[in-house]
Amino acid sequence: MHAIRLARAATGRDKIVKFEGAYHGLHDSALVSVKPHAPDYGDINAPTAVPGGLGVPKSAVANVLIATFNDLATVERRFKENPGEIAAIILEPILMNVGLCMPQAGFLKGLREIATKNGALLIYDEVKTGCKLGWGGASEYFGVMPDMICLAKSIGGGLPLAAFGTHRSVMDLISQHKVFHGGTYNTNPVSMAAGLATFREVLTRQNYAHVDKLSKKLADGYRQTIAKVGLQAYIAQAGANGALMLYPKEIRNYRDWTVVDVDLWRHYWFGMVNRGVMAQPYWWDEQWTISVQHTEADIDKHLAAFNDIAASLAKAQQERSERVPAEVAH
Ligand SMILES: Cc1ncc(COP(=O)(O)O)c(C=O)c1O
Repeated sequence: MHAIRLARAATGRDKIVKFEGAYHGLHDSALVSVKPHAPDYGDINAPTAVPGGLGVPKSAVANVLIATFNDLATVERRFKENPGEIAAIILEPILMNVGLCMPQAGFLKGLREIATKNGALLIYDEVKTGCKLGWGGASEYFGVMPDMICLAKSIGGGLPLAAFGTHRSVMDLISQHKVFHGGTYNTNPVSMAAGLATFREVLTRQNYAHVDKLSKKLADGYRQTIAKVGLQAYIAQAGANGALMLYPKEIRNYRDWTVVDVDLWRHYWFGMVNRGVMAQPYWWDEQWTISVQHTEADIDKHLAAFNDIAASLAKAQQERSERVPAEVAH
C-alpha cells in the first residue's frame, strides 16, 4: 500500500500494472484480480480487472491494469493503452500464491526494461520471497534490480513487522512530508527489536547456506520419488521455499494453476500430516518453508512420509484421469 502510494507520488500517475492471481495485501489499491474465476477474468492476453471482493470501489479497480505473469506482451499492451499513466508495475518475483510459479528466463529483465522505458517504477513485493529466497532477496537471486521492495512476514522473526524501501529520492518524499506515512503500529519497539535480532542473528549468510542445502535435499528427494512412482507432478523450489506441483508440466501463470487436482492435493496433505509431517500450510496455493532450525533428520522424515504415500497418490491420479477427466479441474 505504501509502495504503491509512493510510486504514484513519485510519478504523478495513478495507474498500476499487477499480475492476475497475485495478492499484494488487503488494501483497495491492489485487491483486484487476486483469484478471479472464468468467465469474469476475460481473455488471457488482456485480462479483465476483477474486484477481489465486495467493497472495493470501482474507482480503485479502474486504476489497476491486469497482465499475465510470464507474458511480457500483456504488460507492453497495458503501457501502449495507457501512455504516461502508469506509475508502477508491482509483482511477486516468484508468484507465490499459486504454489510456486517461477519467472521464466528474461521475464524480470523484460519488466525492468519496460518500466524504465516508460518512466514507471518496478516494485518487487517480497513479502513472501524476501528473506526466504536468499540473503539478498530476489534482486540478488535473479540479478534484476527493482526500484522498490516490500518486505514482511519473516523479517519480524514471528512478530508483526513490514517494511518497504526504494531510491533515496523517492523515500525523501516521506521525510519531506509530501507523502503521508504513519500508523499506530509503526516502529513498534518490540517488533523492531525482533526484526533487528532476526537480521543480525538468524538471517546470516551462513544460515542461508544451511537452509538452501536442506531445501535442495528435500526437492531432490521428492523428485526421485516422483520419478520412481510415475506421479504426474514436479517440484518447484527456490531458496527456503518449494512445493509439490501436481501438474504434468511447469505452470507459467495463475490460470495454469487453477486446474490443479484439489482432491489429490488434499490426499497428499492429509497423508503427510497423518505421518507427522506438515508439508506446507493447508492450502494448495502455499509452499514449504525450510527454517534455520530444521535439520537433515527433519528432511529425512519428510521424504520418508512422501515415499510412503507417493505410489498411492500416483495410482489415484491415474484412476481419476481415466474416470473423470472433466471433474478433476476445479
Ligand atoms: C505477497 C504478499 N504481499 C502482501 C501481503 C500482505 O501483507 P500484509 O497482510 O502484511 O499487509 C501478503 C500477505 O499474505 C503477501 O503474501
